[in-house]
Amino acid sequence: MNDAALLTPGDYADAVATAVRAAAAYYTDGGTPLGDDEYDALLRAVAAYEEAHPDEVLPDSPTGKVAGGAVGGDVPHSVPMLSLDNVFSAEELADWAAGLERRLGRPVAAWCVEPKLDGLAVAARYRAGRLHQLITRGDGLAGEDISHAADAVLGLPAVLAEPVDIELRGEVLLTREQFEHANEVRTAHGAVPFANPRNGAAGTLRAKDRPYRVELTFFAYSAVGADDLDHAALLERLAALGAHTAAATAARPLRCATLEEAQRRIEEIAALRSELPFGIDGVVVKADSSVDQQDAGSGSRAPRWAVARKLAAEHKVTRLLDVEWNVGRTGIIAPRAVLEPVVIDGVTVTYATLHNPADITRRGLMLGDRVFVYRAGDVIPRVEAPLVEERTGDERPIVFPEACPRCGDAIDSTEQRWRCARGRNCQAVASVIYAAGRDQLDIEGLGGTRAVQLVESGLVTDIADLFSLAREQLLGLERMGETSTDNLLAAIETARSRPLNRVFCALGVRGTGRTMSRRIAAHFGSMAAIRAADAETLARVDGIGPEKARVIVAELAELAPLLDRLAARDVGTAVTAPQAPVAAAGASAAAEGPAVAGEGGAGPLAGEAVVVTGSMTGPLAALSRNEMNELIERAGGKASSSVSKRTTLLVAGEKAGSKRAKAEELGIRIVTPDDFAVLVAGQLPGAEAGTEAEAGTEAEAGTEA
Ligand code: IVH
Repeated sequence: MNDAALLTPGDYADAVATAVRAAAAYYTDGGTPLGDDEYDALLRAVAAYEEAHPDEVLPDSPTGKVAGGAVGGDVPHSVPMLSLDNVFSAEELADWAAGLERRLGRPVAAWCVEPKLDGLAVAARYRAGRLHQLITRGDGLAGEDISHAADAVLGLPAVLAEPVDIELRGEVLLTREQFEHANEVRTAHGAVPFANPRNGAAGTLRAKDRPYRVELTFFAYSAVGADDLDHAALLERLAALGAHTAAATAARPLRCATLEEAQRRIEEIAALRSELPFGIDGVVVKADSSVDQQDAGSGSRAPRWAVARKLAAEHKVTRLLDVEWNVGRTGIIAPRAVLEPVVIDGVTVTYATLHNPADITRRGLMLGDRVFVYRAGDVIPRVEAPLVEERTGDERPIVFPEACPRCGDAIDSTEQRWRCARGRNCQAVASVIYAAGRDQLDIEGLGGTRAVQLVESGLVTDIADLFSLAREQLLGLERMGETSTDNLLAAIETARSRPLNRVFCALGVRGTGRTMSRRIAAHFGSMAAIRAADAETLARVDGIGPEKARVIVAELAELAPLLDRLAARDVGTAVTAPQAPVAAAGASAAAEGPAVAGEGGAGPLAGEAVVVTGSMTGPLAALSRNEMNELIERAGGKASSSVSKRTTLLVAGEKAGSKRAKAEELGIRIVTPDDFAVLVAGQLPGAEAGTEAEAGTEAEAGTEA
């Protein structure tokens, strides 16, 4: 916290002015010219300067004031609505806890650890169990009456379960889903989209007479009028009264006997962050006992018995420099934002997705705009919105392509996602490379350079051509000697008998990556049965909804000539699972399908829903993620990539991260790779002929759509 050593008196005055402006924007309309991290750093610099020069503290300094001194309202609070002090590391938390215990002269009885919800604090006054008034925090002493907004806030009941007089306090926010919906509705009404959920919650709470409705969500975390309850018990009481609390989420509050336990829970909640359906900007640690709380008391700004362990911001502000248009494997033309590099949560972000042209229009983006960028966990960074009020007039419109940027052919812009009119042919090379990949046909020696050579020489226009290449043709190519030619031909020959799931995956049908390809193959048993299936039949496969089913049917129809040529070359006709009884006998016979693993079949994993995370060791060390999933399905289980309530078993290897935390959270059985290997010993490669081990990457291709 030595940032302030650098501040001169002049810089200090500037920093105070900037912080006051930022706080006013942040606590009123939710907009801010500074990112959260920058604001925190600025405040720390100001505070450190003031500590060193106590005589020079400016009267309007935001330090020591609730909401940084932002304007209040005209409804006085019954009890001040305080803020929280922040700590930024485990060490700072330990220091803070030690200070509290010194003050109390005894250890804290227990801690309660809960998410710090990234919204706006409100007080909801109930009389005889009826919601009577809703007030913002304002300056902490008085807030604004926003009762008009109460109807739109989910989790804030109009009537409580008991006719009590109580004031609930908590946070109102937009869940990620509510945020997306709000922006759809706003742009449909010609309004500027919200820059981020917090901004949207602030704007929505204060707005009156909007021609559309935006729903928000309330989370209760304290109350006035139930002060003798310990914190965890208070939260239970609030939930029992009918208020929504974080107990209903994976990041639910946990009472911890020791600070070590509390630190662990902080890490868990931090790991869950990217998967939570709402934003958090930290984790709050509170002394659980009401006696500890009363004895510790509060300062003018914050209680002494609670502290926020801040997490790095997931939203950052940077500049949109350019938009690139890339053509994907299936001919989809996708815009990508080129950004002024910005570090979000420890990762430098230079590119972010812009989804599709309609999305750019909806967000009203321009080149040169300062934009909010979001990144969390494994999520692909995305541009959320421009900071319209910061425009200088030098911004330029984003130019949409008029022809396919790869082949120059026309663009099919009838769907939200634009596509080259040539579809996947635009990308013959990319399709061949994808099909030859490890998790598809696994053709060794057919990488990028070779694929380009084959396509450009005209020998190969699609993957079926690979299987009729003649030795002389290959020898005629540059840099193709006898050895490389024979090796490549041998590799292609091996690929001819790859199991159905891999051949199907190699087709690159939109929405069917490795997992989905395995499910489809297991369900139908043969390519003929897959081709015979109509949308309704396809939709019986787990994870395929009616829309995806229609896309798959349409793509397979488009691929019919290729599929015929593959069949004529005997590709994908190898039998790995019991074959469908009547291979091409139409939809109904195919739907009953063969009794194969992965569809509730027999085996040591029958009935188990299994997720694999971390790196595998021991007998499983060489298996790619796809092969692990194939193994699970051979053993009768169902493989999935994300942990949910339905998961029954997690195989957690080294460096397992958020999936492990989530599984622990949900009480799911967790095994090591070694234990798992024992469990499925009969199905391991080597125990069955024809499955060789290989290393692979985890990217699930084919899910482009
Ligand atoms: S306790 C006296 N608990 O964070 C108790 N606050 O930065 C003070 N916040 O003003 C608040 N989640 O708006 C508390 N679980 C939580 C919270 C939480 C979010 C907000 C609240 C507070 C601000 C301080």
